[in-house]
Amino acid sequence: MPEHLLITIAVIGGTGPEGTGLALRWARAGYRVIIGSRLADKAAAHAQALSDRLGGHGVLSGVANLEAARAGDLVVLTVPFEAHRAMLEELRPALTGKVLVDVTVPLVPPRVTVVQMPPAGSAGAEAQAALGAEVSVVSAFQNVSKDHLADEDEPIDCDVLVCGNNPAARDQVLKLVEAAGMRGWDAGPIQNAAVAEGLTSILIGINKQYRVRGAGIRIVGVPR
Ligand SMILES: NC(=O)c1ccc[n+]([C@@H]2O[C@H](COP(=O)([O-])OP(=O)(O)OC[C@H]3O[C@@H](n4cnc5c(N)ncnc54)[C@H](OP(=O)(O)O)[C@@H]3O)[C@@H](O)[C@H]2O)c1
Repeated sequence: MPEHLLITIAVIGGTGPEGTGLALRWARAGYRVIIGSRLADKAAAHAQALSDRLGGHGVLSGVANLEAARAGDLVVLTVPFEAHRAMLEELRPALTGKVLVDVTVPLVPPRVTVVQMPPAGSAGAEAQAALGAEVSVVSAFQNVSKDHLADEDEPIDCDVLVCGNNPAARDQVLKLVEAAGMRGWDAGPIQNAAVAEGLTSILIGINKQYRVRGAGIRIVGVPR
């Protein structure tokens, strides 16, 4: 069996639409996926529903967030920004030596079409500063709308910018991007996450302005 398929991915807040879409795609690609929730029963029921949706083709389970983070080789954070800081504190004991993929966009309602970065410069930079050098924070997927992820059979019309200070961790996440059916780009250190996160407010504004759902981004001019 390919080595990467032995990796367990914990999706914290995986009961929400963004985490669900990613979890489904990774499970279908052969990764073991653990859904995390504040409520263990809710996580277990959601994992079962996703497993049923994949017709049993996928290894999914669901437990409370901290337990999921402990069991994950790699941990993906998909909770609202208002819960970001508290979740980092809760998960910290389970994250040492791991990669944390931070999907959080620092939206501050009601002005979600305006870029409003936290003091550290971005949610990703805030996570890296809060967790310290023993955790490799990689920021990714901020520009991929839940509307693209809703149907796991649909191709996704959006690229993914991958930022983080550890190049090996960025490479690992680039593989996850591909496994989920998207094109990823190495976008440099965690400071650059400010741009990816900020773009999301612009995309939400474009959705409103042009009455569409799921505006996305493409990097052009690079043969692949
Ligand atoms: N939605 C999108 O299109 C999209 C696109 C790109 C990036 N993102 C980012 O991805 C993240 C998740 O998005 P989403 O739309 O899936 O979010 P969501 O539905 O609002 O929340 C996801 C999950 O987070 C948990 N949660 C909610 N409030 C919480 C709190 N106060 N404390 C701890 N956990 C809480 C809930 O799980 P339990 O109730 O099971 O604990 C919920 O199912 C956000 O940071 C968002 O900015 C979203």
